[in-house]
Amino acid sequence: MRPMPSNHPFPPAFLWGAATSAHQIEGNNTASDWWQIEHQPSSFITEPSGDACDSYHRWREDLELAADAGLNSYRFSIEWARLEPAPGAFSRANLAYYAKLIDTAAELGLKPLVTLHHFTNPAWVGALGSWAHPKIADLFARYCAYVAPILGQVEHICLINEPNMVTLFPVIASAGGLAALDSLPLPDPDHVKGIIAAHDAARAALRQVLPHARLGWSVASQTYHPEPGAEELAAAYQRASEDIFYDAAAGDDWIGVQSYTCRRVKAVAGELRAAPRAGSERTLTDWEYYPPALAECVRRVADLTGLPVLVTENGIATPDDARRIAYTAEALAGLAGALADGIDVRGYFHWSLLDNYEWGSFAPTFGLVAVDRTTFTRTPKPSLAYLGALARTGQLTTSKRPS
Ligand code: BGC
Repeated sequence: MRPMPSNHPFPPAFLWGAATSAHQIEGNNTASDWWQIEHQPSSFITEPSGDACDSYHRWREDLELAADAGLNSYRFSIEWARLEPAPGAFSRANLAYYAKLIDTAAELGLKPLVTLHHFTNPAWVGALGSWAHPKIADLFARYCAYVAPILGQVEHICLINEPNMVTLFPVIASAGGLAALDSLPLPDPDHVKGIIAAHDAARAALRQVLPHARLGWSVASQTYHPEPGAEELAAAYQRASEDIFYDAAAGDDWIGVQSYTCRRVKAVAGELRAAPRAGSERTLTDWEYYPPALAECVRRVADLTGLPVLVTENGIATPDDARRIAYTAEALAGLAGALADGIDVRGYFHWSLLDNYEWGSFAPTFGLVAVDRTTFTRTPKPSLAYLGALARTGQLTTSKRPS
């Protein structure tokens, strides 16, 4: 691997941000399907989201933390269940809430990147069968059109977060959890069809009313490291579980890469199985500590799609903030290398601004800011200042080399 220069310049217009999602931070998202799942007696969930980070009330403080640190952008999501808690019954008050969030972000110098769907559906959409319902594209596009009037000054809109994960949920749920599956599962084909149709319908609806908005979606991007003999199976699996969503982004304005770790796999009786590397450092989500994943994914996705790339998520669940800084520095050194090679990367959003609700538990702490679980007091970690300083200077100074 070629050595990195010690000083990596990022383009002046580069977006430096932190990311969150509504269900994970707002609290009391009671009209959503996830809230229902969390409160089922047989739920696989360790603890419910409850008040989460109480960002529904403390959003201004969140924005100020990001802006004061030096970030120039903030990625957050709008909660469909708050906007349309019952079919066709839209909440003007909650639309005004998100309008205020967008306007205040802009006033504070944070370009808002708005995600219109991040994992959760209104409970009534879940009851219809969510993405497998024949009318899901119309329903999703209708919701997006309702939100459009408050998105006039938003440059980047993420239509749907991680369609490849969302379409795996029903498969994992019906198997009784990921642990119950021996081989790596493929997304549900009906849900895949529905979510791609919803992406297309939402894009068409928004193009009509927001001709200047830059539309895209964000995919959970993997870098595969197959054991010898598993290369073809891994490639076929990646095509069917991930690349179909890059193909569906043709005609979008950007593609979102979300990368955390690498996926080591092996072939067993013709099936692809996870093969974690023995002795490797693990994070709180039990993922391998592997910062080069980001650049490996970005290079692959840029090559496949030909679209400008936004890194819409990258981060690490750790109690050790020095490790978070080391991880981020190495991931960004790799990203700088990709930029130096001419790859069109437009921004980097760290996951996450806050220690938040990690889909079942508050234990995996991904935040640049700690949140007291009782008082909701926010305490910035050194990693926030680290990322903010980078945003201010655009210079990554590190002695590290990508491995
Ligand atoms: C999701 C986030 C999640 C993060 C860490 C991504 O898959 O978009 O909601 O918290 O990964 O697991």
